[in-house]
Amino acid sequence: MAAASTMFSDCSPSSMTARLLPLRRIHIDSTLFRSSISSPPLPCRRTISSAFAARMSAETSAKVIDGKSIAKQIRDEINIEISRMKDATGVVPGLAVILVGSRKDSQTYVRNKKKACEAVGVTSHEVNLSEDCTEEEVLNSIAGFNNDPSIHGILVQLPLPRHIDEENILNSVSIEKDVDGFHPLNIGRLAMRGREPLFVPCTPKGCIELLHRSGVEIKGKKAVVIGRSNIVGMPAALLLQRENATVTIVHSYTKNPEEITRQADIVISAAGVANMVRGSWIKPGGVVIDVGINAVDDPESHRGYRLVGDVCYQEACTVASAITPVPGGVGPMTIAMLLSNTLSSAKRVLNLK
Ligand code: GUN
Repeated sequence: MAAASTMFSDCSPSSMTARLLPLRRIHIDSTLFRSSISSPPLPCRRTISSAFAARMSAETSAKVIDGKSIAKQIRDEINIEISRMKDATGVVPGLAVILVGSRKDSQTYVRNKKKACEAVGVTSHEVNLSEDCTEEEVLNSIAGFNNDPSIHGILVQLPLPRHIDEENILNSVSIEKDVDGFHPLNIGRLAMRGREPLFVPCTPKGCIELLHRSGVEIKGKKAVVIGRSNIVGMPAALLLQRENATVTIVHSYTKNPEEITRQADIVISAAGVANMVRGSWIKPGGVVIDVGINAVDDPESHRGYRLVGDVCYQEACTVASAITPVPGGVGPMTIAMLLSNTLSSAKRVLNLK
């Protein structure tokens, strides 16, 4: 872990103004916290206590958990394993990605997933269906991939258009190819003691991998997960529990989210609200994993916006012992875990260790 060096100006007392207007919420593999969690959605606008301001002015102490470099290391490991697999069996892992509609954010994620596949030697197959396609067309596509032995993983990019029943779609993916880990059987096994899911959802798995690879002990620790989405919050809480943490979920109806979060040794935030988690929410010495990727207005950026997390990074840096940046924290781990799940699936089929 490198020492925190990049400081965002967002949360400094002088800049806690309406300057930080969220332009739009980008749906990045995670975060659908639909409420304002009992405090304003733009928390960096609030004034901060003088004690906290004094602490903020002290030197930054948190280590940066560098997701970008950890993800690269994982991709390199996967690449080596795939080369060996190819030499030994002639087979490489295959991933099928189904994209319905033309959401720009989903198109970007799918493009990035395909690029990452190519780089490590996973063959990728993409199906693009129009926004107004029928549920049957999606189900037919999935059935084709379920029966194709060259495909080891199937991913249906979410969200789907409203007229398509997400539950039906996710139920139809073979659990042996469910590299997203969203099939109810895989989620059910994740929730039950003594059961093993074949796959674990990629973003939460990436969060746990970041903690492991950064030497953060989870067992016996108090953990708070902010957000309870099916994609991130809920499975993240289940995973932390499997790691023997004592887990609390903070959500839109939670009373005193700040007080509860401040008790946590480990915070995983997947709320999707820019800078919602202030430094005062963090226990001194706590570890912060920020899943949020939120666009905020930034006239200084050539795009007119920039990406920030759920956690007010500058403040949290002065309190936490370690923190993931946004971007460059959890984001790159999601794709690395997708590749890892696809490789495991191929290994299972080939009976390789
Ligand atoms: N949309 C946002 N995150 C995800 C994810 O992890 N998997 C899929 N399939 N769709 C998503």
